Amino acid sequence: MQPFMPVSTIRQKRDGEALSDAQIGQFIEGYVRGDVADYQMAAMAMAMCLRGLNTSEIASLTRHMLESGTPLTRVTDRPRIDKHSTGGLGDKVSLILAPLLACFDVEVPMISGRGLGRTGGTLDKLEAIPGFQTQLPDEVTTDMLSSIGAFIVGATEAIAPADRKLYGLRDVTATVESIGLITASILSKKLSASLDALVIDVKVGSAAFMPTIEEARQLAHSLVDVGQSSGLPTMAMLSDMDQPLGVAIGNAIEVNESLDVLAGGGPPRVRQLTIGLSASLLKQAGAFASLDEARELLTQKLADGSAHEKFMTMVRAQGGLLDGPLPLDPISDIVAERDGHVTAIDCREIADAVIAMGGGRRRTGDQLDFGVGIAMQVEIGDVVSKGDVLMQCHATPEKHAAVVNQLKHSVKIQDEPVKARELILETIGSETA
Ligand code: URA
Repeated sequence: MQPFMPVSTIRQKRDGEALSDAQIGQFIEGYVRGDVADYQMAAMAMAMCLRGLNTSEIASLTRHMLESGTPLTRVTDRPRIDKHSTGGLGDKVSLILAPLLACFDVEVPMISGRGLGRTGGTLDKLEAIPGFQTQLPDEVTTDMLSSIGAFIVGATEAIAPADRKLYGLRDVTATVESIGLITASILSKKLSASLDALVIDVKVGSAAFMPTIEEARQLAHSLVDVGQSSGLPTMAMLSDMDQPLGVAIGNAIEVNESLDVLAGGGPPRVRQLTIGLSASLLKQAGAFASLDEARELLTQKLADGSAHEKFMTMVRAQGGLLDGPLPLDPISDIVAERDGHVTAIDCREIADAVIAMGGGRRRTGDQLDFGVGIAMQVEIGDVVSKGDVLMQCHATPEKHAAVVNQLKHSVKIQDEPVKARELILETIGSETA
């Protein structure tokens, strides 16, 4: 084999030539060892971002990032399933989906992340529960999978360390938005959990990574193709992110909404998406022959309290102290300034207001204020009159005063009516009946 020459490999990619599996392996292994410098990896990430990666390059990158760590061990032969979301405002589905699925004879080893920028993080929401631990010893998570069927934790050093190092670099070198790099990053972590089936919720819309349906489709196909070719049955659902998912936006407030859904209530769109994603996973895992049957039993587990009980068991096992809804900051109303139809909701403005109130991070390591949040009172397509409540804001009076105008103008009210987009737009990689 030729000696490894990082600069000539970077040049090859810069000139638009595909890289071999061996070249990608040498680059990733060298980067983890420290032989490939950050500036060389940054140049390579930029070349990959600008020139793109073909499916076999993405599959190689995924495999080498996976092999930089140690996959989770398996102690039972129950199907292991999980979901990933590309991130959106008010997306609390993971909190509900993991315990809901664990009501069936499957395992859900959910490895989640923290929020940065406008996307909220599952771990941050769970840490609003006093005592909740997101880093647990391997023996505890292994035991939780066998006894409860689910856990939700952060990635350990053993989970695809190459991705952890590369993601940090991409974040500061404008190389996050690359379909190939995103695919390899997501799948290397999901493959590390030794899954039997994966569903990816690809958000589409003004508040999503992928604003157009065409871009979302491209990412979904890349994830499904590379997942399947890596031996992991993978499907993707494209879901609407032109407006927040559900009512609650924040940390403690999203835990509270999750508790409502887990007890059979909560906003219909949160229930619909959670059940849709869960039914696909259970069908892929062979637990049900039809999606209709899976949906019916999932609905029953929410209605009869089983999913709520499973969530409470999982929370206790992770050190959390929860005996009802979490406390929130004082509430005040944001009202409509005119009559009309709600035609758009600017999720970026709302997310920025939540960050400004301390509910999200500007920089890694920022401390969060768990009690702040927003409760949406309208959806796209609603008719409102002047003075109607558009949303409720949980914050101290000072914080509320700082964001009230931003929040008021995030809801667009116009004379002509519009129809809201469907929540689940497309399914890629699997049959739908
Ligand atoms: N989420 C990830 O885990 N990786 C990416 O590259 C983007 C989103």
